[in-house]
Amino acid sequence: MPDSIAIVNIIWFLLALCFLVAFCLFKFSLKLPHRLEHVFQDLIRYGKTKEHIKRSNWQLVFDISKRCFYHFYAVSVMWNGLLLLFSLCSVVMNQALPDWLINALWCLTGRSRAAWNELHLSILLLQVLLWVHSLRRLLECLFVSIFSNGVIHVVQYAFGLGYYILLGLTVLCINSSLPQSGSLVNQLAWHHVIGTLLFIWASLLQNRSLSMLAKMRTDSSGKVETLAHKMPCGGWFELVSCPHYLAELLIYVAMSVCCGCSSLTWWLVVLYVLCNQALAAQLCHDYYRSKFETYPTQRKAFIPFVL
Ligand SMILES: NC(=O)c1ccc[n+]([C@@H]2O[C@H](COP(=O)([O-])OP(=O)(O)OC[C@H]3O[C@@H](n4cnc5c(N)ncnc54)[C@H](OP(=O)(O)O)[C@@H]3O)[C@@H](O)[C@H]2O)c1
Repeated sequence: MPDSIAIVNIIWFLLALCFLVAFCLFKFSLKLPHRLEHVFQDLIRYGKTKEHIKRSNWQLVFDISKRCFYHFYAVSVMWNGLLLLFSLCSVVMNQALPDWLINALWCLTGRSRAAWNELHLSILLLQVLLWVHSLRRLLECLFVSIFSNGVIHVVQYAFGLGYYILLGLTVLCINSSLPQSGSLVNQLAWHHVIGTLLFIWASLLQNRSLSMLAKMRTDSSGKVETLAHKMPCGGWFELVSCPHYLAELLIYVAMSVCCGCSSLTWWLVVLYVLCNQALAAQLCHDYYRSKFETYPTQRKAFIPFVL
């Protein structure tokens, strides 16, 4: 089977397509049949953007507190930590990856065990970055962000949990399409350095933006004084409504740079994040514009001066 039509690529392409279609339906105000429209709105919105839409009682049954966001990152830290551990054992002690993992990778790529005999430096780096990202987000959810009583749909919750499982497997899938080129030290290249620097910068941008959102709910001593959604100002919020979503996209682009920009699979992941975060940013942007009369007109939703 050609690499490009591997199951893993089809999954990420379809996920990106779903969010692209959802983005277009929302952006161009295309209405679905009545009942379907209600379900659609319930599934694309969460948190503050869900507050003001009319929902039937049966829809409220599927609500889960948005404070559970940290579950996603806790699962990711454990799962992607385990995968990183397997990879380190493979590289340092020459231990083969477990059979169940090889079987899962075979299902996703159609490639045999030999494709994971030698792990590429880019894969190890991506695994480390993904783990660091998950840990930082876990700590931010627990100790930085201040959550209100917003909710997410149970489908979004299940999706969020599955997402980080699939993401970890996807990183390993990429190994089968990278050229093997000697020892790990010999593989070190400029794209690893540039990708890591971009990753650090984007992570700092995301952390700073999330801290600014949290600060809008506390007084100078750090005590929570409101759970209201205020108008964000300062920093990258002057350019876009959701700099933390932009930073998320840049984090995934940085990881693509780390594999030399050569992995179609990872670019499909980037495409998915682009569509997913563009939709979330547009919903948030429209929420701010309808709520705050003085909302700056030049401010974009997601990408400065563009979108
Ligand atoms: N890779 C992916 O597929 C994916 C998917 C989703 C999210 N993410 C990432 O996860 C991170 C969090 O996403 P999110 O959608 O939860 O972000 P968010 O809705 O902006 O919420 C982040 C935090 O800020 C609070 N907040 C939001 N707007 C506020 C306002 N106007 N005033 C004061 N506080 C405010 C939220 O509280 P409440 O909402 O509880 O009020 C929450 O504690 C982002 O960096 C995003 O990129 C990634």
